[in-house]
Amino acid sequence: PMNFNIALLRGDGIGPEIVDSAVAVLHKIGKKYGHTFTCTPYLIGGCAIDATGIPLPKETIDGCLASDSVLLGAVGGAVGHNKWDQMPPHLRPEKALLGIREALGLFTNLRPAKLYPALKGDCPLREDIVAKGFDIMMVRELTGGIYFGERGRREGKYGEEAYDTECYSKMEVERIARVAFETARKRNKNVISIDKANVLESSRLWREVVHEVAKDYPDVTLTDMLVDNAAMQLVKNPRQFDVVVTSNMFGDILSDEASQITGSIGMLPSASLGATKRGMYEPIHGSAPDIAGQNKANPIATILSAAMMLRYSFDLMDEAQAIEDAVDAYLNAGYRTADLAGEGVTPLSCTECTEKIIALLK
Ligand code: NAD
Ligand code: IPM
Ligand code: MN
Repeated sequence: PMNFNIALLRGDGIGPEIVDSAVAVLHKIGKKYGHTFTCTPYLIGGCAIDATGIPLPKETIDGCLASDSVLLGAVGGAVGHNKWDQMPPHLRPEKALLGIREALGLFTNLRPAKLYPALKGDCPLREDIVAKGFDIMMVRELTGGIYFGERGRREGKYGEEAYDTECYSKMEVERIARVAFETARKRNKNVISIDKANVLESSRLWREVVHEVAKDYPDVTLTDMLVDNAAMQLVKNPRQFDVVVTSNMFGDILSDEASQITGSIGMLPSASLGATKRGMYEPIHGSAPDIAGQNKANPIATILSAAMMLRYSFDLMDEAQAIEDAVDAYLNAGYRTADLAGEGVTPLSCTECTEKIIALLK
């Protein structure tokens, strides 16, 4: 029997609902397998601003650093109209998420996107493409690039202007490339590196370094793809992708696109990893302010993120598999939350979905 200390960053919007759901699943797994998961909540994002004036209190960083792993819901308010939009840039809710990723050294973000057989009817792609299925592992660089480059305002040729800088060091590209090749070795030995090397100098360095690293992995096939083409190929032929490696911003955008061809963004988990066993596990979606507080959110992205925590941080492979199997069983039984319930299907609430999955845990 083992105890694991988990820092909970519930955050804003649907964050509390989906994190509570995943925690309920974890506790049930703990009971079945004889582990305890000691969960301690900390404030992050808008709720932290409301309570303390800042989005990422020191207590939160310290709590995460002292934990075995972190489970995050989401941060931020309604796009374009929320009380935190008035905050100075360094005090926005989203800045806290960048801050905690950086503080924990989480330079890798694994975002798996696969088509569940039960959700084939929810994939918006052509029938013959859906029939073939797909299983993609997106490896998104998470602590560099334009998210962390120099930015500001200045006087330019046409008056006031704003700038953000995309910057990658060789070291940052090399370490994420290694993660991608190692990941590919455990999968179908195929890496597609996505860049914009026909225009961006940072992408030219990216491509150079990825090819340098590839020499250590002669058993893995490497293909370069430009990001605009990649956006198109994801809907034309998603099956060609095994492991994708790309920069922070391209990975952010392409993973939302990839999520929709699985049926719903409410399905996609992620693992944010660094050099230690401590990771942060987070659904790829946001705080969904449009459905917050209504018990309507799909908690599966967060439940599957918790499963990734068991697998990557705690080496609890059977327990992780048990959660994934329960999600499969839930989908195969035809249960759906509102994001996936088509015509004639009565949607389950977030809590009902959670109860069903818990009941299906083997
Ligand atoms: P979003 O992902 O929150 O929502 C986009 C759409 O998907 C909405 O219609 C929403 O209802 C739906 N959706 C998302 N998750 C769902 C779920 N689990 N179940 C059912 N439906 C779901 O993206 P957005 O609207 O662009 O952003 C809203 C806020 O979230 C912004 O403040 C943004 O900055 C923030 N955000 C945070 C994170 C994060 O914390 N990791 C990620 C993305 C966006
Ligand atoms: C995500 C989110 C974040 C990102 C934002 C909220 C900072 O969109 O986790 O995908 O862009 O990384
Ligand atoms: Mn995103």
